[in-house]
Amino acid sequence: MASQNLLFSTDLISPEVQKALPPGYKLRPLSSDDYEHGFLKVLSVLTVIGDISKAQFLERYNYLKKHNHEYFTIVITDPSDTIIGAGTIFVERKFIHNTGLVGHIEDIAVDKNQQGKKLGLRVIQALKYIGAKTGCYKVILDCSEEVRDLEIQPGKYDKLFHNVPFYEKCGFTRKEVEMAWYT
Ligand code: ACO
Repeated sequence: MASQNLLFSTDLISPEVQKALPPGYKLRPLSSDDYEHGFLKVLSVLTVIGDISKAQFLERYNYLKKHNHEYFTIVITDPSDTIIGAGTIFVERKFIHNTGLVGHIEDIAVDKNQQGKKLGLRVIQALKYIGAKTGCYKVILDCSEEVRDLEIQPGKYDKLFHNVPFYEKCGFTRKEVEMAWYT
């Protein structure tokens, strides 16, 4: 895949995580071609995606590319070059902690047929590597505490599993409480 089509430099891709993947699986930054490689389908295990056109995908991709010192989206592909895992780390620039950087992990998804093969763990390890390499003093995330019904398409529901134990296995510890306000 041509490097100019990738969201950010492959220098931030962990060689250890790449080595730990099953044969034929690849870890790389999101690419401008990934509309065709199943990126949005993988995200559909998380929530409603909407009917996103290629133009909308590219508009968002181009924004991220202009801010590719802050947004790092990675994907894992299977041997047929289909995306089966994805995740993002957003690097926030603070005044506190001596103008410190905080990494926020978002939108972790593994295709339903590929779950349970340590690919979620590899996505998190790859994002932690980027957080450490870009100088974050901590990396945080929000996740579900309870099994709950999740609307994945209008009127279609699936179960979102309690995934605190997954993040504990990825080296995170429980801290603080998320609050939300919807407009
Ligand atoms: N509850 C308890 N343990 C779990 C769970 C769970 N829900 N999910 C995984 N684990 C354990 C596994 O058993 C494994 O344990 P082991 O090392 O003892 O064998 C370890 O965590 C690693 O699991 P993986 O195989 O890497 O997990 P997987 O590839 O299935 O990915 C993920 C986990 C990302 C949660 C996946 O199931 C998924 O996409 N779920 C739907 C979307 C979702 O909930 N995403 C996270 C939202 S939160 C966020 O984005 C910040």
